[in-house]
Parts: sequence; C-alpha cells; structure tokens
Amino acid sequence: MQHKSSNISWQHSMVTREDRRERNNHNNCALWFTGLSGSGKSTLAFALEQTLHARNIASYVLDGDNIRHGLNRDLGFSSEDRKENIRRIGEVSKLFADAGLFVLSAFISPDEKDRQMVKAMFPPGDFIEIYVKCSLMECEKRDPKGLYKKARSGQISNFTGIDGKYDVPGNPDLIIDTEKMTIDQSLAALLAYLEERNYLASC
Ligand code: ADX
Repeated sequence: MQHKSSNISWQHSMVTREDRRERNNHNNCALWFTGLSGSGKSTLAFALEQTLHARNIASYVLDGDNIRHGLNRDLGFSSEDRKENIRRIGEVSKLFADAGLFVLSAFISPDEKDRQMVKAMFPPGDFIEIYVKCSLMECEKRDPKGLYKKARSGQISNFTGIDGKYDVPGNPDLIIDTEKMTIDQSLAALLAYLEERNYLASC
C-alpha cells in the first residue's frame, strides 16, 4: 500500500530484540490462526494464551470478533474490508511481536493472498501459519453464534463458507484438525511445535 504521508523517516529504538528476549527469558513470534467461523481458532488461541501465561511467557490474543469491536469497527465483510482488516492486524501483530510477545492472531483471513501479505511483513520463522481445519458441515453443526443459520436464511450476506469464499491454506506451517482432535490434543500439538523449534526455550 502507498504511503499517504511524505517527509517521514524511521526512528530507531535503543532496545534490541535480543535485549527484550533476555529480559523476557523467551523468544517471540506471531501465530496466525486461520479457518472457518466456528472451526475453533479463538478457542485454541485463548487456550494457548492461558497455557503460555501460566508458564510466564508473555502472550496476547488478537481475535477477529474483538478487534472488530474497536480498532476495526469501521470495517465490514466485503473483500476490500477483509483485506484491510488483515493488513491492519498484520501490522499490529508485528508490533506485538517486536515488543517481545507471542501474539496469537485468530482471524478467518479467507484470502490466501492476504495471508501471504502478512507473512511477508515478518522475517522468516517469525510468522507461523496455523490452519484450523474443520469442514463446513461440522462448523455449521456447531454454529456457536447462530450465524450460519442466519447466513442460510439470507439474514447475513457474504458469509464465509456460504456465499463468501475461503481459500484453504496451500502451505501452512501446522494443521490442527479440530474434527479429529480434542482441545487438549490440539493444545499439545501447538506446544510441541513451539518446543521442537525452540521458541519457548529460556534464554
Ligand atoms: S475476516 O474474514 O475479516 O478475517 P474476522 O476473523 O475479522 O473475519 O471476523 C470473523 C467473525 O465475524 C466471525 O467469527 C463471525 O463471528 C463474524 N461475522 C459476521 N459477519 C460475518 C461474515 N459475513 N462472514 C464471516 N464472519 C462474519
């Protein structure tokens, strides 16, 4: 996206990433949860946040529904608005990761190009794409917010999976299949992924 402002220059912090890592005693990165509404993104992100917090690891969840109450309250569900939603959250995720946290971003983010745009904002290894896999049939059966019912009856338009598209991730870093795994199993898989790659190691 073009800069609207001119005469701006980057200001550098004296606190390095390494400094923050040493103070926190852990690494940092962005975990991006993508999947259909009702697939379990928020449930998993909040469960992981609770577990990391209990282990003294600084983390924070950015959740689609919540962010749309504040920062992105001016955005709807057209493809342009979703793109802007994801772009802003990508930038915010980068700031949180820069601040030394594990940022857990749970957004449908249906467009593969938009997800790639966010990935490109991060150095390699700092962005982990997690596909929270769950069939439309199962999401619709769960329908925790009653939105699929509304979408089917025409009360909501452009609803992901019904009359809005969802691009299945082509090359996610991790797939969590919430139709086959319990929350505890999913959480264990997430932690194992982070542990195996030394994200949680003390500095
Ligand atoms: S995204 O597509 O732009 O990434 P986001 O994750 O922020 O979506 O918000 C999705 C949440 O908004 C859903 O979990 C659901 O509760 C709600 N929602 C309301 N209208 C729609 C819609 N048309 N399509 C998808 N989700 C919707």
